[in-house]
Amino acid sequence: MSEAARSARDLLKIVMVGHVDHGKSTLVGRLFHDTGSLPDGKLEAIKAMCDARGMPFEWAFLMDALQAERDQGITIDTSQIWFKTKQRDYVLIDAPGHKEFLKNMITGAAASDAAVLVIDAHEGVQEQSRRHGYLLHLLGVKQVAVAVNKMDLVDYSEERFYEIEREYTAYLASIGVKATYMIPVSGREGDNVATRSEAMPWYHGPTIVGALDAFGSVTELRDLPLRMPVQDIYKFDERRIIAGRIESGVLKVGDELLFSPSNKRARVKAIESWNTPEVAVEAGAGQSVGIRLDEQLFLERGEIASHVTAAPVETDVFVGRLFWLSDQPLKVGSRYTMKINTFEAPVEVQEIKHVIDTGDLGETVSEKVERHAVAEVVLRTKKMMALDSFNDLSRTGRFVLVDGYDIAGGGIISMEGYADQRDLITMASTNVTRVEHEVTDTLRAARNGHQGGVLWFTGFSGAGKSTLAIEVEKRLFNKGYQTYVLDGDNVRHGLNSNLGFSPEDRAENIRRVGEVAALFGRSGMIAITAFISPYRSDRDRAREAAGDRFHEIYVHADLEICEQRDPKGLYKKARTGEIKDFTGISAPYEPPVNPQLTVDTGVNDIETCVQQIVDYVGEHFSATSRPAVREITSGG
Ligand code: ADX
Repeated sequence: MSEAARSARDLLKIVMVGHVDHGKSTLVGRLFHDTGSLPDGKLEAIKAMCDARGMPFEWAFLMDALQAERDQGITIDTSQIWFKTKQRDYVLIDAPGHKEFLKNMITGAAASDAAVLVIDAHEGVQEQSRRHGYLLHLLGVKQVAVAVNKMDLVDYSEERFYEIEREYTAYLASIGVKATYMIPVSGREGDNVATRSEAMPWYHGPTIVGALDAFGSVTELRDLPLRMPVQDIYKFDERRIIAGRIESGVLKVGDELLFSPSNKRARVKAIESWNTPEVAVEAGAGQSVGIRLDEQLFLERGEIASHVTAAPVETDVFVGRLFWLSDQPLKVGSRYTMKINTFEAPVEVQEIKHVIDTGDLGETVSEKVERHAVAEVVLRTKKMMALDSFNDLSRTGRFVLVDGYDIAGGGIISMEGYADQRDLITMASTNVTRVEHEVTDTLRAARNGHQGGVLWFTGFSGAGKSTLAIEVEKRLFNKGYQTYVLDGDNVRHGLNSNLGFSPEDRAENIRRVGEVAALFGRSGMIAITAFISPYRSDRDRAREAAGDRFHEIYVHADLEICEQRDPKGLYKKARTGEIKDFTGISAPYEPPVNPQLTVDTGVNDIETCVQQIVDYVGEHFSATSRPAVREITSGG
């Protein structure tokens, strides 16, 4: 390992979050002093200055003095101050305000590996502490130590500490943050900062310094999965050279590479060296290389090369935690050009989940995101993208939004609530050939007296999908239709009994049902499906499978109404956390964009809704109304 790599590995970037009044600066001053990281004479100089001015010494003054002397060469508006323990070096990232801080963290100018979050033991868990916790969730910081500060002001009370611990741990858990350590400290007195407190013998966990030292080191980029975004493809006579910069991992001659999102594969035949006569057999993170493959693949700029295992996520939708820079507010429906490394695609803002005011960190639901606000937004592309969750791989987990020629915002990618769609769109079998039916759609329609097709119900649990489906099935049957209901709860007892409710499992659930429903439709029957089917991408795939036989029916009722009805008592369990990933509560629902029909069970009674659907079928499925579009169709 090179010298540079070694020192890079032993450096941990930490951020200290908390309100000034909670003693953040005092704690930092103490931390620097007690780890022996202060420049010689600094403490004495400040004490002397305090004496001269007749004011009592404060640890926080040290912090101010260090800030004033910070490296002037840095271009970002964050100060980075260095300190060290016996174990390793640390850089403490600090910023003049939340705005600068969030901008630097989210855009990657200064990302941290761990955080110390300061709470005031005297004040307890207040709105501010909650907001600071949310900040860490937003930034995806996984290593968190909570310092319950000013324990001296509460007489080092064990009871008080555990009360705060319980309350704050529960809050953090509700937003998906897990505090690695909770430490009772006094910055002013130095208890449990670098040395164990004698005043709190009841506490057996680590000190602040102990906790920091126990945090995992940053994994070296070379040790992470391979990611090489394709920058260009050069053609020299017969040779094609794929050029790009390796963002993480290592590639070797002979390795099988997977290019995403095209899903093409080939082996590395050679790594071209531009300037040296030496023949390279391997290249790693940070290097720009040109590679030749053993097979000619038609690739485009923007694809990501990885190994076959540990591939990036494939998706057309993700949650972006965004810092907005443009004067023009971001709105639902706005379109931008998105860039992730060398990949570029048009994106549309599907949803704004929350907007966070960078002044007071307050969270609001809003239709737009103003300049310098932070927001969680859902972004959608038409085509599949290859990317990573920032939490897994930061290099391929950041995006930038461009408006015209200007950078309008940037952020980090979260796949929370959304599925990796790779397995849904990758065909595993080769050497398979379709057979053609001789019984045509027209013949089937003639015998049944109606066309086959799919009535795809979607909506919240409790919206009435199953009730309507069963009633519509009965009515259609009595009118002489060939029809059958595929219901979520039923199919999950059989065909899909091996699937749960993770985003990936739901996507696979809908993929299978979409294919089955399409087969029913092709067989001449009317399949009625009653599945939440919360994801737009999954319903689009189901539509693709059934072609123009697909009819999307939005069974609508407001979430509050569904929760009130709670026919299976599941919402109640979801609210208490007994059921995870519950649609509408802790998992997303993406309403249809252009459903063929919407029935509203919150407004109308069941009979009215049933009649609407039966009428719709009467209009759209008559044997002669629609020419059989595809006599021989796919899949069957
Ligand atoms: S889908 O999201 O994959 O389309 P599906 O319609 O098959 O869901 O199943 C939904 C039914 O499963 C609900 O009506 C409810 O009875 C039950 N269920 C159990 N756990 C969950 C959950 N976490 N989220 C939603 N529904 C759940």
